[in-house]
Amino acid sequence: MPVNIPTILRSGVRLPVLGLGTWKSKPNEVATAVKVAIGAGYRHIDTAWNYGNEAEVGQGVRAAIRDGTVERRELFIVTKLWCTFHRPEDVKLGIADSLDKLGLDYVDMYLMHGPQGFKAMESLVDEGLTRSLGVSNFNSRQVDRVLQACRIKPVVNQVELHPYLPQLDLIKYCQSKDIILTAYSPFGSTPEVGNEPRLLEDPVVVAIGKRHGKTPAQVLLRYHLERGLSVLAKSITPARILQNLEVFDFRLTEDDIRSLNSLNRNHRYVTWQYSRTHKYYPFDDQPRSAQ
Ligand SMILES: NC(=O)c1ccc[n+]([C@@H]2O[C@H](COP(=O)([O-])OP(=O)(O)OC[C@H]3O[C@@H](n4cnc5c(N)ncnc54)[C@H](OP(=O)(O)O)[C@@H]3O)[C@@H](O)[C@H]2O)c1
Repeated sequence: MPVNIPTILRSGVRLPVLGLGTWKSKPNEVATAVKVAIGAGYRHIDTAWNYGNEAEVGQGVRAAIRDGTVERRELFIVTKLWCTFHRPEDVKLGIADSLDKLGLDYVDMYLMHGPQGFKAMESLVDEGLTRSLGVSNFNSRQVDRVLQACRIKPVVNQVELHPYLPQLDLIKYCQSKDIILTAYSPFGSTPEVGNEPRLLEDPVVVAIGKRHGKTPAQVLLRYHLERGLSVLAKSITPARILQNLEVFDFRLTEDDIRSLNSLNRNHRYVTWQYSRTHKYYPFDDQPRSAQ
């Protein structure tokens, strides 16, 4: 029996709290991963134009629809507008290319992958190309700017979140504005360099898992669910795709959450270093006027 994943209802949008991530999922692996995930109960699939795998993500999605595992309306497909499409006249080209690659008529949510202008995306909702809008990698000042100017409110801000980067202020801010935070890189992403801290091996995370009879990965997912957030878990490994679903049968205690928050070391696995000098680079504590 597929696991029934709870949803968060916000601004008329029903977002499944756990989604399958696909960043760095190779084109030759991701269609199978998506199909396995949908068969197991995942409904929320997160991809992006920039991941270079929308065509294969779409293959997995369409295969699951074709064989009767799900109907399109049961799925929540998210993709993202890449930063080279930010000019108002290019926004529609961005989504058209994504839809073409995915082989779908619409997506359920279209995110601006990194912070910049937003207004031009609203017409995509009017035209039925996406059902809702969201932002990603926006700091609270940048979300605020969008809220001042928008006609259609972003439902989600998708950002890096885990015990090494708990972002408690950003969570508080977004929740006060009724915006869902979606946590990405909950396991500490896919390590690229050997000297990055290994969240999945952190003794505190491991010990909490042992107490609950759960794996470190399951503790790290539950950490977000416990606080009313949604979370994306990337895996191309069928056993892990299934393991990451087994998070709705236990609860972390308040002490567990406190211990996990105390691991904070302001460590980002995803730094967008190449855009470090951009005026909208989101990860600096710069004065308001500079943002
Ligand atoms: N908006 C953005 O800018 C942004 C940025 C980063 C990520 N995201 C989204 O968020 C998703 C998740 O973040 P992420 O891909 O950075 O990293 P992540 O989900 O934190 O970690 C993925 C890594 O963890 C491994 N893994 C998965 N389940 C595991 C388990 N149960 N036990 C041990 N290892 C496990 C995966 O290996 P295998 O795949 O080999 O199993 C992979 O190496 C992305 O895929 C993407 O959809 C968005």
